[in-house]
Amino acid sequence: MDKKYPTILFCFVLLQINLPAQTKQLPAASAKGLTTDMDGNSINAHGAGILKYNNTYYLFGEIKKGKTWLVANQSWEDYRVPAGGISCYSSKDLITWKNEGIAMKSLTGNASNEIDTGRVIERPKVIYNGRTKKFVMWMHINKNDYSLSHAGVAISDKPAGPYTYLESVAPNEQMSRDMTLFKDEDGKAYLIYASENNMTMQICLLNDDYLSPTKNYIRILENQHREAPALFKQNGKYFLITSLCSGWDPNPATYAVANSMMGTWTQKENPCVGSGAETTFNSQSTFVLPIDEKKGQYIFMADKWNKFDLQKSDYLWLPLNITNGQIEIKEN
Ligand code: DGJ
Repeated sequence: MDKKYPTILFCFVLLQINLPAQTKQLPAASAKGLTTDMDGNSINAHGAGILKYNNTYYLFGEIKKGKTWLVANQSWEDYRVPAGGISCYSSKDLITWKNEGIAMKSLTGNASNEIDTGRVIERPKVIYNGRTKKFVMWMHINKNDYSLSHAGVAISDKPAGPYTYLESVAPNEQMSRDMTLFKDEDGKAYLIYASENNMTMQICLLNDDYLSPTKNYIRILENQHREAPALFKQNGKYFLITSLCSGWDPNPATYAVANSMMGTWTQKENPCVGSGAETTFNSQSTFVLPIDEKKGQYIFMADKWNKFDLQKSDYLWLPLNITNGQIEIKEN
C-alpha cells in the first residue's frame, strides 16, 4: 500500500469544521489520521462512505491494489485495477483510524463470479437496520465493460463485518451504476443510483429489511448525465450532490434539492466556490458526513482519482456548509 502524507488541506478541514468535542482538542498535526491509519499505513478506502454507530465512525471503501490496466474495445478510458474487496476503518474522532481489516472479501480465479477481483466492486455504503439488527452494505457491481450494471447487497451482524455477499439486482429491471444509500429519520432507506446508461438518476425505496428494492422508484435529473451521488438531509430538506460523467477525470459538481425523497428534485448550481471549483477541486463526490445538522455543518468527502495508477488515488475532505438553504464547499 502506498504511503500518503498529511497535507495542509486536511489540517484546514479539521480547523474549519466543528468536529466532535474530542477532535477539537487535538492539535492540527493529528489530522494525519485522515490519510494514514494508526499503524502508519495509508488508508485504502476509495468511493467511501461512513456509518456512525454507537459513537464510532466506520469508514468503508474500495480496496484498490495492483496494476492498473485499460479494458480493450471501450469507447471511453475504462481504466481498471483489481477489485480488492471492501475495507473498514473505525474512529472515534475522525482523526485516528483503526484498520478493521477487510469488511467484504473479493474472490479470485473465477471471472464469472460477481465479486471476483477482475470485476467492478465500487462505492460501498452501509446502514444499520434497527428491526433486523443487521448491518446492510450496498455497492456497485459490474463487469469491466459496464454491461451488467447491478447493485449488490451484503449483510453482517457487526458493523465492521465480515459482510456476507448476498446477490446483485437490477432494481425494477433498471441499470444501477454509481450509487449511494440513504436512511431517513423514519427508518425508511433508499438506493440512489445512476441509471439508463448514466443518463438519469433514480431513487428507489428499499424493503423494510433493506435487502431488496421495492417497486417504488422515481427518475430524477433526467438526461443530465450525472453520477457519484452523495445525499444528505438538513432541516427537512434533502440535498443530492452529483458529478458529471467523465470517466475518472474531474468535472464540476452540481447539487439538487427536494422536500421529500420521492418528491420533485430541483437542480441547482455548482456548490463549490473559489479556485478549482470547476473541477470540484480535482475530485469527485462520494459521501457527505453530517457533523452538526442544526448549524448546517458537514464534511464533503471526495476521491482524487489517479486513472493511470488507480491504487494511488487520493482523498479530499472539505467543510461543507449550508447557509439559507444553499450549499457551499470551499477549499481555502
Ligand atoms: C466514475 C465513477 O464515479 C467511478 O466510481 C468509476 O466507476 C469511474 N467512473 C470509472 O471510470
